[in-house]
Amino acid sequence: MATIGFIGAGKIGSQLARLSVASGYDVVLSNSRGPETLTALVKELGPRARAATARDAAQAGEIVVVTIPLKSYRSVPVEPLVGKIVIDTNNYYPQRDGHIAELDNESTTTAELLQAHLPKSKVVKAFNHIYASQLTTDGQPRGSANRRALVIAGDDADAKGTVAGLIDQFGFDVVDAGPLAQGWRIQRDTPGYGPRRNAEELRRDLAAAKRPPSK
Ligand SMILES: NC(=O)c1ccc[n+]([C@@H]2O[C@H](COP(=O)([O-])OP(=O)(O)OC[C@H]3O[C@@H](n4cnc5c(N)ncnc54)[C@H](OP(=O)(O)O)[C@@H]3O)[C@@H](O)[C@H]2O)c1
Repeated sequence: MATIGFIGAGKIGSQLARLSVASGYDVVLSNSRGPETLTALVKELGPRARAATARDAAQAGEIVVVTIPLKSYRSVPVEPLVGKIVIDTNNYYPQRDGHIAELDNESTTTAELLQAHLPKSKVVKAFNHIYASQLTTDGQPRGSANRRALVIAGDDADAKGTVAGLIDQFGFDVVDAGPLAQGWRIQRDTPGYGPRRNAEELRRDLAAAKRPPSK
């Protein structure tokens, strides 16, 4: 079983860590304030979990989840993530993140920004369109009728396959939106962003998504 590193251990990071531990992975958690602030979460997660700095979590993980406010993406350590699968859960909220011109004018997408920051990593966009609380309530075994589905997007087919397998283990079907550049189809304010959808419904939502006009 692989180790999953977490850069960010807030609402989404802690929930994905719970699912990871429940699926038998070891997890290494980090946040902006330091490992000593993660004692309660580590205790809750048990012996498969430990806390570290962001750099150490990046180093330790074979797969690393980046789940922080988007405005801080440039602080994600680059070198320890070379060659690794990086799962990007991040969304753009200008009121929280400040304005990012390339996102305001729709010339790129959130996950492409992270990929540009981590040029030698394999970024896969995932878990960005489900409320954190639902990650541990909405999962069902494979083959369940009307199973909830989650989107992935990425430029590396093998990395996407690995992340799709993880999502299936966590209890969800997977819909591939295509390369990272298609990630806008599941960004904030698109039909698939937020509601519970099975795979067929989610494919329909992706096809129906309209890219906002550039500002
Ligand atoms: N909440 C949701 O339901 C949801 C759903 C889908 C996607 N998302 C997206 O996923 C991302 C995370 O959301 P969230 O709700 O989990 O946020 P959150 O609860 O505010 O947690 C953010 C985490 O990131 C850490 N962090 C901040 N800056 C960091 C840095 N420079 N290096 C390392 N860690 C850092 C924070 O640590 P400190 O507390 O120590 O600062 C905290 O652990 C956001 O982009 C959000 O839009 C959220």
